[in-house]
Amino acid sequence: MSVNTKIKALTPPDITEMKGKEPIVCLTAYTTPIARMIDEHTDLVLVGDSVGMVMHGMPNTLGVTMDMMILHGKAVRRGLKRPLLVMDMPFGSYEKSKEQAFENAAILMRETECGAVKLEGGQVMAETIRYLVDRGIPVMAHIGLTPQSVNVFGGYKTQGKGDDSKRIMDDAISVQEAGAFSVVCEKMPDPLARKVTKKLDIPTVGIGASVYCDGQILVIDDMLGMFTDFKPKFVKRFANLGEQVQEMAKEYADEVKSRKFPTPDHVYDYAGEE
Ligand code: KIV
Repeated sequence: MSVNTKIKALTPPDITEMKGKEPIVCLTAYTTPIARMIDEHTDLVLVGDSVGMVMHGMPNTLGVTMDMMILHGKAVRRGLKRPLLVMDMPFGSYEKSKEQAFENAAILMRETECGAVKLEGGQVMAETIRYLVDRGIPVMAHIGLTPQSVNVFGGYKTQGKGDDSKRIMDDAISVQEAGAFSVVCEKMPDPLARKVTKKLDIPTVGIGASVYCDGQILVIDDMLGMFTDFKPKFVKRFANLGEQVQEMAKEYADEVKSRKFPTPDHVYDYAGEE
């Protein structure tokens, strides 16, 4: 008799079901080792188009391509067992028509074996979301600050302040009605994110929004403090790896220059003279 020890991966309906029961833990990942490290502690892992900025030094997410997403998606897939894998649709891969969106979402699902895709936009994307969901592609929506529209917004500004809150609420309702299984709410006032969370039946996943969203997501490199110059203000940092890497690189350089590295132990090892 064989015992099936395979861990069951979470599905989009599992994530939707978590609303009102337990907070949903989400993180981005771009590589196999990081995916392996966070697997046990996350419910949903997003290969975000933030990959362009954090891994490739791009100034924004607009230059990210389908090929980049597929490469990183495959890498993350290899490291995940339990969390739902969601792939971001890059700028220019879904806005032109619902048919274009289906073609590219299907490629992402086929190539990376993800369980869902994410795309940015509220009311304007409702028809596309409905089209994808009706054809077997689960969609996570993304409203509020949608970074692919940085040039329209004139920067990474908080969305939904004052009278603009109605637009965000309408976006939230329309992506739910279109069939999204959850929605990322990025950089909006706390009371608005709470209102949206209360209004919707699908889970909200906040980033710079409210602690009362149904879940939270962070860009993994922001969580780790893995950067040298850009320091996102609205996310909590759990470590300062960027500074540590720089310190260790300096320590290593000092050792090499003063001929302290490799140590004598290493030299004996290499020469087989233990
Ligand atoms: O690209 C990304 O990493 C994202 C998250 C910030 C939600 O969209």
